[in-house]
Amino acid sequence: MTSPMVDLSDDASFAGGFPHDAFAWLRDHDPVHWHEPTAVTPDGEGFWVVSRYADVNTVFRSPDLFSSDKAGGRKAGGTTLKDERAAGKVLNYTDDPHHRILRNLVNKGFTNQALAALEQELRRRANLLIDAFPENETFDFVSHFSRELPLQAICIILGVPQSDRTRLCDWIDKGLEADGQNVIAMDYVKKIAAYARGIIAEKRAHPADDILSKIVHARLDDEDGRQLTDEELINFFILLFPAGAETTRSAIGGGLRTLIEHPDQLARLRAEPDLLRPAIEEIARWTTPSIYKRRTVTRNTELCGKSLKEGDKLTIWEMSANRDDRAFENPDRFDITRSPNPHLTYGKGAHICLGAGLARMELRISFEELFRRVRHFEIAGPADWMPNNRLLGLRWFPLKVARD
Ligand code: HEM
Repeated sequence: MTSPMVDLSDDASFAGGFPHDAFAWLRDHDPVHWHEPTAVTPDGEGFWVVSRYADVNTVFRSPDLFSSDKAGGRKAGGTTLKDERAAGKVLNYTDDPHHRILRNLVNKGFTNQALAALEQELRRRANLLIDAFPENETFDFVSHFSRELPLQAICIILGVPQSDRTRLCDWIDKGLEADGQNVIAMDYVKKIAAYARGIIAEKRAHPADDILSKIVHARLDDEDGRQLTDEELINFFILLFPAGAETTRSAIGGGLRTLIEHPDQLARLRAEPDLLRPAIEEIARWTTPSIYKRRTVTRNTELCGKSLKEGDKLTIWEMSANRDDRAFENPDRFDITRSPNPHLTYGKGAHICLGAGLARMELRISFEELFRRVRHFEIAGPADWMPNNRLLGLRWFPLKVARD
């Protein structure tokens, strides 16, 4: 069999959805693969591609060997292919102990108690969105629902005025679609950063009961009780806002589309609401909205028989791990009753997704309310994927519904 390999550093390779064939081949033939740089590869540098479940899991759980910060003498690092200068200055681009200190700052906003306080309001908002669905005509489910609910939620959590949400989300969407080596193109990151600077000043002057105010006024444990600098705060905003707004929408939209494509499973889920919990995990596995992470090798080591050198860039692909038949029975079968379902969609180890509880709650509320209010769903056009190798999601999802 010839290799169906594609350029994994090129967003265009993801324009038709995730390149499953390439990864099936890698898992079987070259599970820790050296990807040569191409004309579009960030920093013009090659990188390792880790595709099997067991190895992806090992990398997630070994931050001493695989750093999220700068390592191997690099001036920059982080968790995207392109070396980021923000490495060391933002939660997901740090290693312990600094990482733990930053994480403690934001943890409180995402506890079960904090989420429970949000549930009723999100359910109310989900219903308003469903009220506005056009009846018997095609509409875009992404802009009418799956983009909106997580976006409204993250605005509430961070204390961002709802009137600013569309502007912010448009910048993120345009930044994701624009060509370039950054996940979100620099021109748009600058717009989001300028917005962040303003709202941080506002929270500094007038603290409110939201996470952003807490972060602005918090003092770091173990670091002489200092407060975060403006640059660190802006980086926090640039992490939290898109993390909250972009990923869950892909799971909600991709999840509904997949259920409609599997009518037997949709019917069973409607009939047996207790299956919603495993169904939400299967939707997370199936859609894997955040598809790869990068680490930097901290010292010479071996993985799956390959010699990795200190300073090498290494990528781990959660979507590939989630379809590995060494870890899942019939991984290409969508099965809402799958159990156990140890998917890696939210990562593992020290950096495991801070918003996983929120994402699960948003998915639960969405499907509970959609199934309660909508009698019939019909896909009204082909899937249109966002061309991005980091965030995999539907850009546009034409849908028709009939309510009771
Ligand atoms: C289906 C939805 C989501 C998926 C698939 C997802 C996926 C992930 C993954 C894989 C990581 C690990 C990153 C790493 O190891 O480098 C992560 C981290 C993170 N996620 Fe999510 N996420 C989702 C929703 C959310 C939401 C709603 C928020 C809310 C703000 C959020 C905030 C974060 C943050 C702050 C981190 C960094 C944690 C750290 O470095 O300690 N995520 N997410």
